[in-house]
Amino acid sequence: MSQPIISFNHITKKIADETILEDVSFDIEEGKFYTLLGPSGCGKTTILRAIAGFTDVDQGDILFGEKRINEVPANRRQVNTVFQDYALFPHMNVFDNVAFGLKIKKVAKDKIKETVYEALRLVQLAGYEMREISEMSGGQRQRVAIARAIVNKPKVLLLDEPLSALDLKLRTDMQYELRDLQKRLGITFIFVTHDQEEALAMSDQIFVMNQGKIMQKGTPVAIYDEPINHFVDDFVGESNIIDGTMIEDNLVEMVGERFTCVDGGMRVNEPVEVVIRPEDLKLTSVEQGKLSVSVDTQLFRGVHYEIITSDRQGNEWMVHSTKKAVEGSQVGLSFEPEDIHVMRFNETEKDFDSRLESYE
Ligand SMILES: Nc1ncnc2c1ncn2[C@@H]1O[C@H](COP(=O)(O)OP(=O)(O)OP(=O)(O)O)[C@@H](O)[C@H]1O
Ligand SMILES: [Mg+2]
Repeated sequence: MSQPIISFNHITKKIADETILEDVSFDIEEGKFYTLLGPSGCGKTTILRAIAGFTDVDQGDILFGEKRINEVPANRRQVNTVFQDYALFPHMNVFDNVAFGLKIKKVAKDKIKETVYEALRLVQLAGYEMREISEMSGGQRQRVAIARAIVNKPKVLLLDEPLSALDLKLRTDMQYELRDLQKRLGITFIFVTHDQEEALAMSDQIFVMNQGKIMQKGTPVAIYDEPINHFVDDFVGESNIIDGTMIEDNLVEMVGERFTCVDGGMRVNEPVEVVIRPEDLKLTSVEQGKLSVSVDTQLFRGVHYEIITSDRQGNEWMVHSTKKAVEGSQVGLSFEPEDIHVMRFNETEKDFDSRLESYE
């Protein structure tokens, strides 16, 4: 790995008696798209504020490159923030909003004009220079806010739920545009959302957070395929989570039967949670299935049917299938060993890493 552009080393922050961030460590590599994903109140905005210098921390080092920046004031950090409410100046037009930071820095007039026009072109707002902010739609305001942030050519752009106020269609369009912009500019993005699909669609790396801690870091595929614990799994996607027992490496028991799997590194007969994704389950005849279930209900979801089935112990199994099932019928469920994901109860990222090392 190349030298990270930003690092958090064991950052802890408390407000009164409450721990807001607990032993948070991560490295941000230059030029990539990072997402902080987690429920409301988990500390996402606090991390952005600590990076930007709007809040201090109680313990740990914040590094920019090799330099410790804990005491560096906000205006001397090479980052820019797009706030959730955009924080545009309502009494200024689009041009003046975007030009604001450059005017303060006393950049030459010609240069300001050139830079602002270029930024507005990048966010596809060329021609809107003289519009008032009050005459812009939500999505357009959002792009003005991004243009304002990129004219300063920050090394790192922090974006705090910038899309949350937009309707679904515009939001999806902006997801593409933001991702595209990030690639073209090569700026490091740290993006905050509590929307799992948004995080999966946009990021190079996701940090899943809960209650002031980072639960898991990884690529979207890794986090989706190998969630380390129940929280991450529940938060990142729909899943079937069933109690089981790890008999030995590569052998797990659930619903009274034993199945070959690809996980290991746990104690013999350790109680575990077994996860199988709805899209990894296939409906078969009872004879061909690994589990026998009855079809309870189904809903058409546009691309697939979401079918709720239950096994003889009463566990529910959700199946995604392009074919309709017959409600009330008895069917089989088939899956492959690699579709079975075994999770320890409340395993942390550190434990997960050392278990993988011991196992590999
Ligand atoms: N100035 C403050 N005083 C007291 N508590 C605070 C302060 N700022 C944040 N907190 C608390 O810190 C925790 C984390 O807040 P933060 O704003 O980082 O959450 P978040 O993940 O951004 O949530 P959301 O998704 O709702 O924006 C919350 O419990 C919040 O109540
Ligand atoms: Mg927030």
